[in-house]
Amino acid sequence: FSMKRVFSGIQPSGEIHIGNYLGAIRNWIKLGEKLGRDAIFCIVDYHAITVPYDPEALAKRTFEAALVNIAAGLDPEKVTLFVQSHVPEHTELAWVFTTQTPVGDLTRMTQYKDKAARQVSVGAGLLMYPVLQAADILIYKADTVPVGEDQLQHIELTREIARRFNGRFKEIFPEPQAFVDPNAPRIPGIDGKAKMSKSVGNTIGLLEDPKQIWEKIRTIPDDPARIRLSDPGEPERSTVFTFLKYVAPPGMVQALAEEYRQAGVGTLVIKRILFQEIMKILEPIQARAAELRRDPDYVWDVLMEGAKRVRPIAQATMEEVRQAIGL
Ligand code: ADP
Ligand code: NA
Repeated sequence: FSMKRVFSGIQPSGEIHIGNYLGAIRNWIKLGEKLGRDAIFCIVDYHAITVPYDPEALAKRTFEAALVNIAAGLDPEKVTLFVQSHVPEHTELAWVFTTQTPVGDLTRMTQYKDKAARQVSVGAGLLMYPVLQAADILIYKADTVPVGEDQLQHIELTREIARRFNGRFKEIFPEPQAFVDPNAPRIPGIDGKAKMSKSVGNTIGLLEDPKQIWEKIRTIPDDPARIRLSDPGEPERSTVFTFLKYVAPPGMVQALAEEYRQAGVGTLVIKRILFQEIMKILEPIQARAAELRRDPDYVWDVLMEGAKRVRPIAQATMEEVRQAIGL
């Protein structure tokens, strides 16, 4: 299918890690090169307040999310980058969708069940989360939503909400497609778990201090069968190699794997190489982040500009919606 307009939500979290970068942000940058302003990236602060949070920390996290994504290469002069709450039509459309969505469709959402299980008192906003997400996407009539596997259920619900609205009132919304990039790597955790994730705490942050990154890399599990340097190792069993595969040139990984199999290279040496290769990626990002941090007004300005530019699209959709539903 053809991508004309892509929408992607960014959680306001300062703790963006190399899994997010290699698995998502890098792909967003590519989409931005293809689609320009029609690559829409939205920092979803209204979503962030559906769970307990600290107001002061949220403003900082919104800023950090913008900063780290811009530093990583998401160019706000080329794509569209803005903050959800700066475009109030998102919540307006979400309310309209709320009235048309069966509660049962929402209580069966896996993410809702997971998050609700962790709260003492479950806010209604947590239940409505996927309705707001549907509004985020549909208000721009986006045709494509790049997501991880865990979001497929929500995008299916978005399609259902669009279908239901179109059938009941007027054909206004396209049914957007989820796009799970088959080539996106899945970065393991530094603990050897299959996925690096901030909720597990097994991450390497994009903006982390190099010394701390090195300390973390030292702990990445190697082939457990390899005890002494003189033991041959099996790269397939080593998380160090899994990492290396995603950050180092293939020729280099192959040569190291050969040596490793023949007990010709120590784990610490490979970890040093891994550290160097990771820092080659992170150094320019960290330098750019430091620059942006010296000029926070620039970051807020581009976010405001982004909102100003997309708001007319959102307003036009709401105009159509109001007419269709009799408001
Ligand atoms: P986390 O799991 O750390 O909370 P998110 O769920 O916020 O990360 O994911 C944001 C984006 O980054 C999604 O597109 C997701 O698919 C991608 N992503 C998250 N973790 C990884 C990973 N370990 N490897 C590759 N991509 C990832
Ligand atoms: Na996640």
